[in-house]
Amino acid sequence: MTTVIDGKQAAASVIDAVKGAASRLEAEAGVKTGLAVVIVGDDPASHTYVASKSRMAKECGFTSIQHTLPAETSQGELAALVASLNEDPSVHGILVQLPLPKHLDAEPIIQSIRPDKDVDGLHVVNAGKLATGDLSTGLISCTPAGAMLLVRRVHGEDLSGLNAVVIGRSNLFGKPMAQLLLNANATVTTAHSRTKDLPGVARTADILVAAVGRPEMVKADWVKPGATVIDVGINRIAAPERGEGKSRLVGDVAYRDVSEVAAAITPVPGGVGPMTIAMLMANTVIAAHRAAGRQPPKF
Ligand code: GUN
Repeated sequence: MTTVIDGKQAAASVIDAVKGAASRLEAEAGVKTGLAVVIVGDDPASHTYVASKSRMAKECGFTSIQHTLPAETSQGELAALVASLNEDPSVHGILVQLPLPKHLDAEPIIQSIRPDKDVDGLHVVNAGKLATGDLSTGLISCTPAGAMLLVRRVHGEDLSGLNAVVIGRSNLFGKPMAQLLLNANATVTTAHSRTKDLPGVARTADILVAAVGRPEMVKADWVKPGATVIDVGINRIAAPERGEGKSRLVGDVAYRDVSEVAAAITPVPGGVGPMTIAMLMANTVIAAHRAAGRQPPKF
């Protein structure tokens, strides 16, 4: 029997801890945690994500400020908004939702966010701290931090002797995930679209993490019997069996077949997905504690 790793439940316990930490910070230091979320343009999926981030921030007892800018916003206008949020002491976390409209260059915007307010963990200072093994003074990218929390639920803190394979090498997920696993003493391989014999490499994994953005790409014969499988993909595919024009969400892993082989697996939806927002809230309350000169909670 495979264990289904319950991301909703893990996220709810992170959110409970965030709420407690935020309310203690307010009661003891008079600091109300503040998150600013910036969205540019009309991409409907991005608007859905941002709305749930803003809603969750309020539920955590934060001040939640959403800046919704028109698609025509210039690079200079966006940079000026980030500069003003950097200076605002009531804002502890800044998140600029990606992707930005095509005429805008995301990289200089992300790098202009103050590292201590970069709750996405994308600033080179935060990426560099993670790369050098400093997990205690920076901010870690939310989805890998959430995926790692789920790995720890199965395997504990120390992954010595375990082989981990991460499929995907993005700055937002694959690279930080590989570094988190390495920091926990796993033997880590980062595989990607140019890897020779990807199924063979995947089969070496005791912990297999898939973040490729291709629906159900990881098949049962890619998975070592007894492995832990973490599925980071969220893909919407047509589901004519549910009626005309209907769709459903699937991960990067062929869930039904792989769950026959794996010892533990995250479902989609309800696995890594809910962890991303929970870890964003965790990063924001950590940033608020540091700004107030207080010891931040650990997640
Ligand atoms: N778009 C999709 N995922 C993310 C994320 O984690 N952070 C930001 N800023 N944008 C995203």
